[in-house]
This record gives sequence, structure tokens and C-alpha cells, in this order.
Amino acid sequence: MVTRKQLKNGFEYLDISNESSTAKIALQGGHIFHYARVNEAPILWLSEISDFEAGKAIRGGIPICWPWFGMSENPELPQHGFARTSMWEFISTSEPDARSSEITLRLEHSKASLELWPFRFELLLHVRVSDTLSLELKTINRDDKAFKITQALHSYFQVSHISNVSVKGLDAKPYFDALTQKTSQQIGDVTFDQEVDRVYQDVHQPLILRDRERGIVIETQGSASAIVWNPWIDKCARMSAIQDDAYQRMLCIESANAREDAHLLQAQFSHSLIATIRTIS
Ligand code: BG6
Repeated sequence: MVTRKQLKNGFEYLDISNESSTAKIALQGGHIFHYARVNEAPILWLSEISDFEAGKAIRGGIPICWPWFGMSENPELPQHGFARTSMWEFISTSEPDARSSEITLRLEHSKASLELWPFRFELLLHVRVSDTLSLELKTINRDDKAFKITQALHSYFQVSHISNVSVKGLDAKPYFDALTQKTSQQIGDVTFDQEVDRVYQDVHQPLILRDRERGIVIETQGSASAIVWNPWIDKCARMSAIQDDAYQRMLCIESANAREDAHLLQAQFSHSLIATIRTIS
């Protein structure tokens, strides 16, 4: 069942529940901020003190970074683009079977978006909430000129404790380290004992977040980069809408097109970034 609901302050979201799982998707940002399989711990992490306010990105879940990931060339523009704070349109929902719900949301260019980014576009988000969580973010160039995008499904995963986790699938991959501004190469699994903020390139195979008895598998299509980010102690203390010790309970693994994996989209062409998230034992 998919029900349209509102928080006390009017913040609108879709409440989804079926035989396999539950999910919540905010219309602002097309932002999935909850996904859990029935009788299991949530897969996505949501900050205990996240803002649910007009114009502010939710801290947790899956913010959609679009049409740029990180900072734009113009430092006055918002980090991670405007899609995550824009109001999306609820297009349709269907329930193909008792264990699956499908939802489509849309964001189109507007007077406000054209002031930030001078292109006409249509952005469609298809979400399938089932035994797995699948997202397809489809960018359609509705302009008469080409445009370039970078983007990310900025997934925050809930973990038992950051010291228990590792990320598999990135061995030997080159990465840009946002902390040192240098390029390096991964050796073995990624583990965490300090701040990590890296854009991995040439990523085509599934990634596995290993956390004691649970594994989370992230498979992507239309993406060749992945961001691995944990803010650790100092950045967590500086950041908005997050508790000081929250870095212990979350890890971001973002399915992306970032840095050299930017996509040039010709007029009227489209591109889909697809991520499927599932658990293994
Ligand atoms: C990550 C970046 O993708 O997003 C980090 O790599 C950044 O550098 C983080 O701090 C969170 O960004 P924001 O804008 O949601 O605070």
C-alpha cells in the first residue's frame, strides 16, 4: 500500500508498505528516507535529528545529488545540486505483486532551476520497494543543446558500528581523495579508523558493505564511480542535522557519475543511473 502523508509541519511523503518491506519517500528531493525489510533492522540510516524542512536536505536515506555532485564550478551554487531540495511531482504507483510496490516521481526544469542551471530537463525517479530496493534515476535532456551532468544516489547505510565494517569490491581501483586532493589506488578492502571521503573510478562490479552477520550488496548500471564517505569525529561535530557520535552508525556508499565519469547528454537524449540494494548474510 502507498499512502500520501504529511508531517505536522506539512512536509509531504509517501508511506509504503507491502509483504516484504516498508519505505518512506519525501516529495521534497524524491528522497527515500527509510527502507527496511519486514522484521529486519533498517538498511538506510536516518539522522535522529534530521531536519524535515522546506528547502533543507534530509540528513540520511538517499539524497539525490543532481545535476552536479559536490561543488559546482560556481562556488555560490548549492553543494550536490538542487534536485535534493526541490519539490518533485508524484506521478504514479503500482503494486505488481503483494511483495512489491513501484513509485514514479518527476522533477522538471522551472524558472527557479533555470536561474541555477540554464537547461530544460526532465528527471524521473522510479523506485521499486520489494525484497530489494531498486532506484532508477533517468535524466532526459529536453533542451536543444547538450548538457553535462555529474550525479549520485548518496546512500547512507545503517551499520552496527563503523569499526565493524568494510567495503569489498574496490581493490586496485583508482580514487580521488577529497581530503588530500590527491589520486591514489585502493589496496584490499576499505576499512575505517578516520575520516574517509573518496571518489573511486572504474567501478563496474557490485560493492559489498560487510557488517558482522549482515552484508549489503549495491549493484549499479550507468555508473562508473562510487563515493565512500564517513565524516568521523571532527566533521560530524561541524555538520548540520547530525549527532556528534553518528559517524559510528552510518556509512555512505554512493552510486555515482562523478569527476571524470561526468556524462555529456546531447539534446533529447537520456541517461539512467540504476542502483539495486539487497542484503545477504
Ligand atoms: C559526500 C561528500 O558525498 O557528501 C562529502 O563526499 C560531503 O565531502 C557529504 O561532506 C555531505 O554533504 P552535505 O552537503 O549533504 O553535507
